[in-house]
This record gives sequence, structure tokens and C-alpha cells, in this order.
Amino acid sequence: MQAIKRNMWMKVRKIASPRNIVFTLTSLATFSVFYMFIEWQNRETTSFHIKDHHSFKPVPDCSLGRVNRNENQAVKFPENTQTRQKALLFLKSPQTQLGRKIVVLLESARFKFNTQNGEIKNLPVLIDDNKGRYGVIIFEDMLSYTGLHQWNRDLLDKYCRDFNVGIVSFLHPKRTSVSHDVEFTQKLGNFPLNYASNLKVKDYELNATARILRIARPAEIITGLLPNDWTVFEFEHNTYTPVSTVRLAQAYEAHDTGQDLRWDKNKARPFRQSPSVNRQSSLFGLFPSESVTDDRLPAVVQDLGKYDQVERVIFGEALKFWLHQVLFLDAISYLSRGRLALPLERNVQIDIDDMFVGVKGTRMTSDDVTALLNFQEELRETIPGFSFQLGFSGKFIFHGEPEETEAERLLLKLHDKFQWFPHMWSHMQAHWFKNVSQLCSYMDINRQFAVRHKLNMSHGYAVSPHHAGVYPVHQPLYDCWHRIWNITTTSTEEYPHLRPDHKRRGFIHDSIKVLPRQTCGLFTHTMILDKYPGGPTTLHENINGGLLFQTFLFNQFNIYMTHLSNYGNDRLAIYTFRRAIKFVQCWTNLQLRYDPPEVVGRKYFELYPEEKDPLWTNPCLDKRHKEIYSEDKTCDRLPNFVVVGPQKTGTTALYWFLNMHPDVESNRPSDKTFEEVQFFSGANYYKGIDWYMDYFPVPSIDTILFEKSATYFDQEVVPRRVAALLPKSHVVVILIDPAKRAYSWYQHMRSHDDPTALKYSFYQVVNAKRQGSPSALISLQRRCLDPGFYAYHLERWTDGRRSDQIVIVDGEMLKEKPAVVMQHVQKALGFKNIIDYSKKLKFDQKKGFFCQVTEQKRLKCLGKSKGRLYPDMDDKSQMFLTKYYQVANTKLLQMLKSMNKPVPKWLGEQQGS
Ligand code: A3P
Repeated sequence: MQAIKRNMWMKVRKIASPRNIVFTLTSLATFSVFYMFIEWQNRETTSFHIKDHHSFKPVPDCSLGRVNRNENQAVKFPENTQTRQKALLFLKSPQTQLGRKIVVLLESARFKFNTQNGEIKNLPVLIDDNKGRYGVIIFEDMLSYTGLHQWNRDLLDKYCRDFNVGIVSFLHPKRTSVSHDVEFTQKLGNFPLNYASNLKVKDYELNATARILRIARPAEIITGLLPNDWTVFEFEHNTYTPVSTVRLAQAYEAHDTGQDLRWDKNKARPFRQSPSVNRQSSLFGLFPSESVTDDRLPAVVQDLGKYDQVERVIFGEALKFWLHQVLFLDAISYLSRGRLALPLERNVQIDIDDMFVGVKGTRMTSDDVTALLNFQEELRETIPGFSFQLGFSGKFIFHGEPEETEAERLLLKLHDKFQWFPHMWSHMQAHWFKNVSQLCSYMDINRQFAVRHKLNMSHGYAVSPHHAGVYPVHQPLYDCWHRIWNITTTSTEEYPHLRPDHKRRGFIHDSIKVLPRQTCGLFTHTMILDKYPGGPTTLHENINGGLLFQTFLFNQFNIYMTHLSNYGNDRLAIYTFRRAIKFVQCWTNLQLRYDPPEVVGRKYFELYPEEKDPLWTNPCLDKRHKEIYSEDKTCDRLPNFVVVGPQKTGTTALYWFLNMHPDVESNRPSDKTFEEVQFFSGANYYKGIDWYMDYFPVPSIDTILFEKSATYFDQEVVPRRVAALLPKSHVVVILIDPAKRAYSWYQHMRSHDDPTALKYSFYQVVNAKRQGSPSALISLQRRCLDPGFYAYHLERWTDGRRSDQIVIVDGEMLKEKPAVVMQHVQKALGFKNIIDYSKKLKFDQKKGFFCQVTEQKRLKCLGKSKGRLYPDMDDKSQMFLTKYYQVANTKLLQMLKSMNKPVPKWLGEQQGS
């Protein structure tokens, strides 16, 4: 053993001899230098490659010179006020890929639409007040349309004729069986139109003379095999004209069988020459002779209405092909006569974040700065007045390599060539700052930096690092933006959520306009083309009709965020936008424009005024929001359920009873509105959720939080707001006879010395004509009567909520048998501890209501304003109101039954059920 050890020791000493150590270190050093050289070489080569040659993929040559066509084909539509700006969409099912795609595209374009799912037995109401309800009809499956029951078909076609409305549809049936003797041509319903499906096609060509083209612009033939299955058409009437054509690919597959069939050109020809076909139109005459052959097949067809006076566009593909998304918009705009059409103008703003922030070696060089300036000039040729917005955090300036420091000096010298916006002094996130003064002084250092370097800050625009503080709102950020910078406009990707991106919206908080920002796919770490996530192919797909192209297509206002590192290194941002903008110009008639951010902000909310009001969501239900939500804040201080009213139904009594439960806690009282916070219904909503949560205690594990604001029930905006912030909450609604509720409100107003209630009898109030009566009387009448249309208001509360999230309380029973009602309420709200209220509540003869049994065994009742003494309602009013609410109450009964809710006793008795 000893010998072995000694032997090993000798070996180690021999290996670690001074000579060997020197040799090893020298080799290591040489290798390191060599490695660094290779790395440096690599960097240079890659950068050199893309920066100076632009040779990865040529900017598209759109062959536009060869197209002899009218530049602006937008058809001028007659003003038609007889039809509303809404689409009617018939889906086979909401689950199909095409169905989902159509919905996303309509949402992206912000078109309003109603959806009918599944088999069409009855058509929805099409006409309302002599006006057409829908400006365009869309069928996911053309065969559902041709297969309509004759009666429905006639009705729909008549509607289309009478209201000058067209139909967009898709024809892409899956084959159920295949054989070698396939007969390709099938007849489409009773139309003089044949089709063949499940084909592989190539060489897509737009018909530049097609009438529907508005956004779409025929740039060139898209050569090569096209993805997915296609249907092609054959016409037997001159009502049809091709919007685009394709050629058959040599081979196709029958997808559902997996069988590989060979297309024998000589055996079958899907496109049969027929005398009525306008060959000229199918050849378009646009492109040089090699494309003018007779084997082109229509892939999107326009029916001009010459056959049955209904205009249609039929797509032989399921919207997977990017250009069809453009044509889909064009078809809708054409067939709705411009009622559902996006304008052609698109605002483009490109922000560059973190101007002086970045890891050494990844910042810009002087050449990059010059390239940026040149690119700005280049963009101005397409987008007049375009200017990059440069965002800065001053602290890290001159922290890069010497050549990067030089570049920053050059940038500062060129300061007046760009627009600037503040980020944060050291790129810190706003929600890390607890108080306003700390955050403001931080921002102020950055402001002094801007003053020192004369940065042009005229546009009142700012961006917060990591979106922090913008949404979810951190009030100190808004306060300091006002105080330090006079900010009017900002942008974020986080409202209401990052995904789905087509649903990003804007809002105004504290008079600062928050605009939605689009993703262009360039992040701080996206520096080298080869390392682009998914590889260069993904980037090119994004540009060539993919995600980036779609942002231009659908959004009238595009704010993109790029980063300093995207303009150094491979200058990927220049590479991307140069190609993206060229692609947009090639394939669309969109007109790109630039406006300073505050002008964009103004225009945005002029166009979408309904977005001004924010819709607060729970920050803890979105992972990204949670990351930029202050650690000092908790989402636990939000109610588990809300008692929403309506007023005068016993809401205070229920609130009081619930508070007797040991597990339940409510909000602290408000100075102005006492036990009610009234957050969701009025101006308080704009104070934000921090303000709201401040009313609630931090709950312990078993505590159930709730609030009661009886004003919520009948206010239109409230159900949506509650659902957005408290999606899992229960909603408690108390229902008494609406006539009694009206009378109770009238008495309430009298006891508050309301002059109108004192002047007029109850009968005069409820019976007053809405036209011609004094406004105070009408206002009182509304407050008495309108909340009593329970079914109408309840419908809004059921929207987006499960039925078990709505708890219905019989308000009459609450007066008579509160312990029984409380048993039901506790169960419906899912309380773990169900307590017996019969020991807590006793009837007080003098008060005429149930009151609380105190620990001293005394009775404590609600104050004078609850359970008032007043004469019974007169018979005339009673009869009037019974009739007045008859229909609404019948509807309420049906609704409660369909929701599987217990029917209040008073309602059952009235309705005789
Ligand atoms: P009246 O005062 O017209 O009788 P709200 O709290 O929603 O404003 O409702 C007030 C109504 O609650 C009262 O209307 C009363 O009828 C009813 N109520 C139900 N239970 C009560 C109770 N235990 N004590 C007092 N009022 C009660």
C-alpha cells in the first residue's frame, strides 16, 4: 500500500515539474489568445456580412413596374345608413381552426360581429327598426350556405339584395374517400360553379383587375408550392371572375387517407374550358408570357351578382395563406360597401430603448450611428417626417468599449437629428420605489442629463423600463411623470395582457394616454441574424406576411420597441424594418405615416373613444403583471364576493348579517358613502385598484372579504368591471317585488326632503309621461322604476360568469325569515363554517323587523332609515306597477329557472308558478 502511494506521489511530482507547469500555462495562454481571436473574427465576419452586404435575403423586388393598374382601386361606396356596421358570422363550430382564425381576424380588425354556431335551423333577426342589422355575412363553410333550408336561403338572399350586403365564404371540404378515378369537378349547390378540392397548388397570382382589391396590391407571382390544401373553381357563368389563380402542383396528397395520389395531367383537368368563362380575366394580362398559360385555376372567386343579384367572394383556402388575410379584409370591405373597412393609413413609430445601456461590446459603434441616421433618412422617403424615438437612461453613458464611447459622443453631437424620450436614470423599475419623492428625484437626475445634453424632449412621451408601473398602475410613476417630465403619452404591451397580442388596447389613467405597443420580435438579446429565435427563416416569415406584417395590416397605430443592441452588431432592426416596410409597400396599398407620439395619442383615442376608460384586472392572475407589481402590495385585499343591490331591497340588512359571521369581513367605511365603497360604479373607479384595496384589511387565511354597494346592480359598466377585476368572485343580488322597491325608493327620497318627491304623489311619479314632464320628475321616476327591470340587468351579470357565481336572495324572505335566507346564502357562497342565525337574530315588535341579539342579550336594530314607517302603497299605483312589470317579471322567472336558481316566493306567487 505504502509503495503504491509513494509511486503515485512520484508521478504527480513529475507531472507538476516547473518545466511542465510553464509549458501548460504557455499553451493555455496561447490557446486563449487564439480562441479570443477566433471569437473576434467571428463577430467581425458576421457583422461585416450582414452590415455591409445586406446579402442574407434581398429586399423584395416587387415587379411593380410591370403592372399596369390603377394605383388606388378603392371603390367608392354610396352612403348607406340603412345597415349597421356589424358582420354576421356563421361558424360550423367555434373549435375549428378556420373558425378561430376568422374570429381572430375580425377581432384584430376590431370589426363588430355576432356569431351563430353549428347547424343553422333558424336565421337570427336580420332587420331591426327597418335597418339591416348586418353589413356583411360570413360563412365559415360555403356548403352550410348552399345547404340552408330553402326558406332560410331565400330570406338571407333577399336580405342581401334589399340591404346591398354581400357574402364572404370558404370552400375547403375534406375528402372522405379517394380513388384513382377521382372526378375533380363538383357542382356548388345550384350555382353555375364547379370546384375541386384537396389539391396541392403553386404559383399564386392576384388578378390586378379584381374589384375587391383595396388593401391588397398585386406585387408579383408567388412562385413555388403553396402550403396546405386548396380548392379551385370552374365557372359556367360570367357572374364569376377570379380574384386570384394558382397552378396545380404535380403531386397532391389526400390528407385524410394519407394515400399519395399522383396527378395525371392528361387524365383529368379540374379547369374545364367553358364557353362562358372569361379567359381574358383569368389571364389578367399582367405578367410576362411565361405565366400566361391556360392551366391557371381560380383560387378565390368573386361572384358579381349577375346570376342571382347577390354578390359573394369565395375562398378556396382556409386563411392559412398570408395573402388571403389581406383579401379577406378586402372582401369584407367590398361586400359591406365600406361599412366594415379599415382605412388605408397606418401610423408607424419606432422607439429605441436603452440608448446608453448595454453590455460592453454590444453597443453601437460610430458606423452604426451613421447607419441609423441614414436609415432614418431612407425611411423618410416612404414615411414623411419619420423620426426614431430614442429612449435613454443617462447613468450608464460612456460605460462601453472606447469605440462605443466614441459612438455615444457622436450620438450626443447628433442629438437634434432624433426625438428623445426618458426611460429612467439607471433603468430601475418604477414599482421598486415605494414613495413618490424617491422616484421623482431619481427621474430628475435623468432630466438634468437631458438638459445638459440638449436632448429634444418635446413630445411628452415616456416609456417605463419593463413596463413597470404603467400597467398594473403604480401611482408614483404617473405622479412623477407629471411632475418631472410633463408626460402626456406612453405605451405598453401589457394592457390588458401581453397575449393574445391582437387584443392589446389603450387606456387613459390620470390624464396620461397609454397606447398599445406591438411586438416586432427584436429584443435586447436579438443581435445576430443567425441567432434570431427560430433562426433567420422565422424572421423572414414574420416579415413576409407573418406576424410583423400582420401588425401593419391590422393596426392603424403601430408603436414598436427596439433596442440599442439591435442597431449595433448585425443591425438587425435596420435589416428587419427595411424589409418589412418594403414588403408592406409591395403587397399593400397601405400608406405609412409618422406623427409625434402625443399626436398619435390624441388620434388613437379619437378613433377608439370607448377605450379611454381602463378596465382593471387582477395583477396576480397574470404572471408578467405579478412580476412588475410592487412587493408591498397584495392582491389578497380584494373581495371574494360582492353584494350588488339593487337599492332598497334589504342590502344593508344583509351586509349587517354577513358581518356577524366570524369568518367574514367587509371593507372599512368610506367618509362619503359610509359602508359602501362604490368603486365600480362611479368616479372612484378611476382612482385605481390600489385605492380600492386600501379599503380592505389584509385577510388571514380563512377570512372571506366582501363589499356591498347597492348602486352596482343596474349600472351598465359595472358587471364587466367586476368580472375583469374579480373573475372568481360571487355576486349577490337581492330581489323584492319591483313595485315595492319603487315605493321604498320614493319614501326614501321623501324622508330626505327631496322637493320633487314631496311635491308629487307616488302615482304621479310612476305615471308621469317621459316626454314633456319636468326633468326632476323624470329623474325621480327613473330612479324608482328602472332598477326594477331585474331580468334586463341580471342578463349583464350573467355574461362571462358561471351560474353558480350568482347568488339570488329573496328580499321578502330576508325580512320574514332571515335565518333561513342566511343558511342559503352561506351555502351558496361556499362558506366552510355555516353558522345558525336563528340564535343571532330575533324579531323586534317595535321595529317590525329582525334585529341582532347582542352579547348582553339585548336587541340591536338597524337605524331609522332602514325599515321606515310609511303608509301602504295606494291601490292605483299597485295596479299600475303590477301591469308595468308584468313582462319583465315573466322574463325574470324564465331566466331564474334556466339558471337553476330558486324562484323568490313573491315572484312565484305573482306569476302563478
Ligand atoms: P324600507 O325602509 O322601505 O322598509 P336597503 O338597505 O337596500 O336600502 O333596503 C332597505 C330596506 O331593507 C327597508 O326598506 C326594509 O324593508 C328592508 N329590510 C329588510 N330587512 C330589514 C331589517 N332587518 N331591518 C330593517 N330593514 C330591513
